[in-house]
Amino acid sequence: MNFLNFMFNLFVPPSSMLTLAFSWPALCFLNACEWLYNTLYSEDMDNKVVIITGASSGIGEQIAYEYALRRANLMLVARREHRLKGIAENARRLGARHVMIMAADVVKEDDCRRFVNETVNVFGRVDHLVNTVSLGHTFCFEEVTDTSVFPVLLDINFWGNVYPTFVALPYLHQNNGRIIINASVESWLPMPRMSLFAAAKAALVNFYETLRFELKDEVGITIATHGWIGSEMTRGKFMLEEGADMQWKEEREVHVTGGPVEEFARLIVSGACRGDAYVKFPSWYDVFLLFRVFAPRVLNWAFRLLISPQGTRRASSYVGTGRPLEAVSMGVRPVLEGTSPTHTAIAPLTFSGQLISQHKLD
Ligand SMILES: NC(=O)c1ccc[n+]([C@@H]2O[C@H](COP(=O)([O-])OP(=O)(O)OC[C@H]3O[C@@H](n4cnc5c(N)ncnc54)[C@H](OP(=O)(O)O)[C@@H]3O)[C@@H](O)[C@H]2O)c1
Repeated sequence: MNFLNFMFNLFVPPSSMLTLAFSWPALCFLNACEWLYNTLYSEDMDNKVVIITGASSGIGEQIAYEYALRRANLMLVARREHRLKGIAENARRLGARHVMIMAADVVKEDDCRRFVNETVNVFGRVDHLVNTVSLGHTFCFEEVTDTSVFPVLLDINFWGNVYPTFVALPYLHQNNGRIIINASVESWLPMPRMSLFAAAKAALVNFYETLRFELKDEVGITIATHGWIGSEMTRGKFMLEEGADMQWKEEREVHVTGGPVEEFARLIVSGACRGDAYVKFPSWYDVFLLFRVFAPRVLNWAFRLLISPQGTRRASSYVGTGRPLEAVSMGVRPVLEGTSPTHTAIAPLTFSGQLISQHKLD
């Protein structure tokens, strides 16, 4: 057996690489034909129904605008209702047929049932479910002082995608719908200070790849992976190792638009409508996959040289330092917020600008 594996190790990789190299032009041609066909017969989203979780900022917000331009009906979900209201208005102006918003925590299955059921009650169907919820972190694993951050990060980054998917799937089946998820290059190219985030994203990708097999072609899955894109996430909205959901509050509320966020949102929505299995931004990152498989040592050396474990932290930020936040006592910043903001407010649901119903959040 050892001899057999020795022989396979010797011959299978080079012969596979050669076969791949020779068949590459033909594969590219087939891919191009498929892309052209799918582009010509792209899904028309006019009057279709799209649920977007994590729509209150960043990529989720821009994805809402992209579907609005395609005249879809939208259900926008996140915890900050005040942000959703403004985004819903923008979406209506851009052409969305009807827009509903709901303040909900996707980590709670009941909340997910609430927004999916409300969508079906009002619109009668669900065509696309777009999951963009997320929370990053910038601390090394050994710096953690409160292990309560572990489940919170996994909850938001993993279960926060699984629950809405589980609840929406029966409705997606009815219309050959599609699930769009936002992973990250971190799922296969892990970087220092992001161990739990990278682990959650890897779990996410494997979960949806498995689901893709199980669902066959009845419900499509588009997995979007991307590098660093300007959003709240890149502006200090991170988990802190002391166990608090910590943000530079004033930066978190800064509206981030333009550049890669809009471009990426456009790519995701057009990819989803085309039925693409993957959307990558930027796609040249793929080359690192080759290094990962054939020369992992080179990749490790490069990362050690380029990214020191201390280097990825924002110089001016206290996020993830594990040290007392002197700035707080000096009255400068940051602002600490509770792990999961509790919503006690009555959250109005809007539909084309009209108040439909009210939901008390727990
Ligand atoms: N930006 C990047 O550079 C980058 C890089 C790689 C991957 N990604 C991935 O791309 C996706 C979008 O990222 P982004 O940059 O747009 O992030 P973002 O601006 O931080 O947005 C995250 C969204 O998730 C919502 N959210 C968080 N926890 C929630 C919960 N428990 N229930 C409901 N909503 C929740 C937030 O709204 P509320 O706080 O109002 O609830 C917010 O709308 C994420 O999956 C992220 O991991 C981003």
